[in-house]
Amino acid sequence: MSIRLVDTYVAPFVAENEYAAIQPMVTAAHKMLTDRSGLGNAFLGWVDLPRDYDKEEYARIKAAAAKIQKQCDVFIVIGIGGSYLGARAVVEFLKSPLYNNLKKDTPDIYFSGCNISASNMQELLAICEGRDVCINVISKSGTTTEPAVAFRVFRELLEKKYGKEGARERIFVTTDRSRGTLKGFADKVGYETFVVPDDVGGRFSVLSAVGLLPIAVSGVDTDALMAGANAAREAYADPDITKNDCYKYAALRNILLRRGKTTEILVGYEPFMQMLAEWWKQLFGESEGKDGKGLFPASVIFSTDLHSLGQYIQDGMRNLFETVISVKDTGATQLIPNDPENIDGLNFLSGCDLNYVNGMAQQGTLFAHVDGGVPNVVLELADRSAYSLGYMLYFFEKACAISGYLLGVNPFDQPGVEAYKKNMFALLGKPGYEEQKAALDARLAK
Ligand code: PA5
Repeated sequence: MSIRLVDTYVAPFVAENEYAAIQPMVTAAHKMLTDRSGLGNAFLGWVDLPRDYDKEEYARIKAAAAKIQKQCDVFIVIGIGGSYLGARAVVEFLKSPLYNNLKKDTPDIYFSGCNISASNMQELLAICEGRDVCINVISKSGTTTEPAVAFRVFRELLEKKYGKEGARERIFVTTDRSRGTLKGFADKVGYETFVVPDDVGGRFSVLSAVGLLPIAVSGVDTDALMAGANAAREAYADPDITKNDCYKYAALRNILLRRGKTTEILVGYEPFMQMLAEWWKQLFGESEGKDGKGLFPASVIFSTDLHSLGQYIQDGMRNLFETVISVKDTGATQLIPNDPENIDGLNFLSGCDLNYVNGMAQQGTLFAHVDGGVPNVVLELADRSAYSLGYMLYFFEKACAISGYLLGVNPFDQPGVEAYKKNMFALLGKPGYEEQKAALDARLAK
C-alpha cells in the first residue's frame, strides 16, 4: 500500500456510529460503480484504464515522446482543465515545479491554452524565439475556446518557422477518437493523433494519452506511474471502509460535510505538490459541486501558507477540515549549517535535516489545528516515486466517484461550466447567440 489513512486527528470529530451508519451507503455506491448502474455510467473508462489502456497507443506515445525530446528545446502543451492539469501535476510532483530551470536532457515544458491572457501568450512566444518548438494540443471536444485560440497562435508560429511540412512533424494532437473538428482537421493535415477515450472525462484522463504524452516527454517513468495506479485499482476493491482507505476517505468527507464542514483544504508540505492540489481541486470541485451540493475544495502549501492562511484556519469560521498529504520519503536531504556566532539562535538545529524540521512543523500544525477545531485526515504517501503518485492519482479518482455517489450527484458531468461559455460567446458576438447577446447587453446598459 503506497497510501495509509491516519485517522488520529479526525477521530475526535467523528463518532464510531457514523462510520457504521454510512457503510450501507458506501456499499451501495460501490455497487453502482462496479455494476455500472450509477449516474454518469457512460464515463467509467478510467476505472480499469491502468490495466486496460491501449497498449499499441501507449507504445506510440513513448515513440512520440522520444521524437519530441530529440526535436525540440521547448514543448508547448495546449489544453485547459482536465486536458492539462494532470500532466502538469505529475511533472511538477515527480520532476520539480522548477523543472524548466533545472539542468536536464529533456525539453522545457510550458502550458498554454489554459487562460485567455495576452501577456501570458506573448511571454510564451518570446520564450520560443530562437528555440526549436513542438506542440501537443489536447482537447477532447476540440472546440474549447482557450486551447483552440492558443493552437491557432502556435500553429502559425510553427508553420512560419518550419513550413507546413516541417510543422506537421512537430504538432501532436490528443482528441476524441473519431468525432470533432480537431480530429477531422488533424487527419486532413496529417498530424499524429492520440485518443481521449470516449468513456473518460477530462478530469479523469491523466492516465490516458492526455496526461501520458507530456509526462513521458518530461522523462517520467510512465510504466511505474501506470503500475502504481493499477496496484491501487486492485487494492481498493472491497466496499468495507474498515479495509479500504480510499472508501474511508470518501466516507469521512461526507460525514464531515454533514457536520457542517463545507470546505476541504488539501494540505501539502512540499512546493512540488502545488499543481497536484490544482488537479485535485478540479477533480472534486467539478465532480461534486452541482445541484446546490458539494464540499468546496481549497488547498494550501505549508509552511508557506501558515504565514498567510494559517490564521484563518486556526481561528476563523469552523466550517473547514483538512486533508494532509504527508510524503514519508521525499528523496532529498538538506542539512542546516552551524553558525559559530548563532546570530539567529538556531544552533539547536545545526546539522538537522530539513525533512525533520518540516516533519515537526507538520506535527505541530496538526496538534494546533485539531485544538482549534479543525478535523485533519492524514494520507501518508510512501515516497515521491512515479509508482506512489500513480497510486495516489487513482486513490483520489475512485474516492471522488464514491464520494459523488454518496452525495447523490452525477460525478462525471459538468453542466455548470457551460454558463460562462454561453455568455462569453454571446458577448463576443458568436453567430447563433443573438438573443442571449441582446439580453446581456440590456443588463450591461442598466
Ligand atoms: O474535466 C473536464 O471535462 C473539463 O475540465 C475539460 O477537460 C475541459 O473543459 C477541457 O475540455 P476539452 O478537452 O474538451 O477542451
